[in-house]
Amino acid sequence: MPRLLIGLVVGLLIGASVMYFIIKPSERPAEKPVAENVEPAKTKLKSEGELVYEKSCKVCHPMEPPAGQGPPILGLATHYREAFSDKEKGLAHMVDFMKNPDSSKSKVEPRAIKRFGLMPAMANSKTELKLVAQWLWDQYDPSFECGGGKRRK
Ligand code: HEC
Repeated sequence: MPRLLIGLVVGLLIGASVMYFIIKPSERPAEKPVAENVEPAKTKLKSEGELVYEKSCKVCHPMEPPAGQGPPILGLATHYREAFSDKEKGLAHMVDFMKNPDSSKSKVEPRAIKRFGLMPAMANSKTELKLVAQWLWDQYDPSFECGGGKRRK
């Protein structure tokens, strides 16, 4: 008797799989290749530094001219690259400036401070300021010309 039962169960199982593969395929959900199911990346992921920029700096600093309440980022990147050949020193200076702006430490043209006033001190964490300084440094574009004003020494 048990053998008969086993035979029955095995038979049912085989029958069910045969049904699944032969009768059911049309009803199975369409299996899309994985690539089609994945949304194509529309924009490249923003760096943490860029996110800090959008949150804390964009309101005053547009990327390109015309200037906002403050000079454009591309101009700032140019001035910092001109003032510092050592990237680490440039970043450290920028972070320090953002924490405690001081016209005597400014690396932009003196007329920028006359025109815009001094930048207000930023309340961001030092980590955020480092990230955004790094991001700003990387925005340097050698083809960008600062609105007629090369830094006067
Ligand atoms: C309320 C407006 C305002 C905000 C917000 C602001 N800035 Fe500024 N920033 C200015 C102005 C105005 C200047 C130009 C005068 C100066 O250099 O202090 C300036 C100058 C700078 C400079 C040049 C400093 C120098 O050497 O003189 C850097 C670098 C800079 N900003 C980066 C940032 C970053 C990064 C943020 C965001 C974390 C930020 N700023 C947020 C107004 C702003």
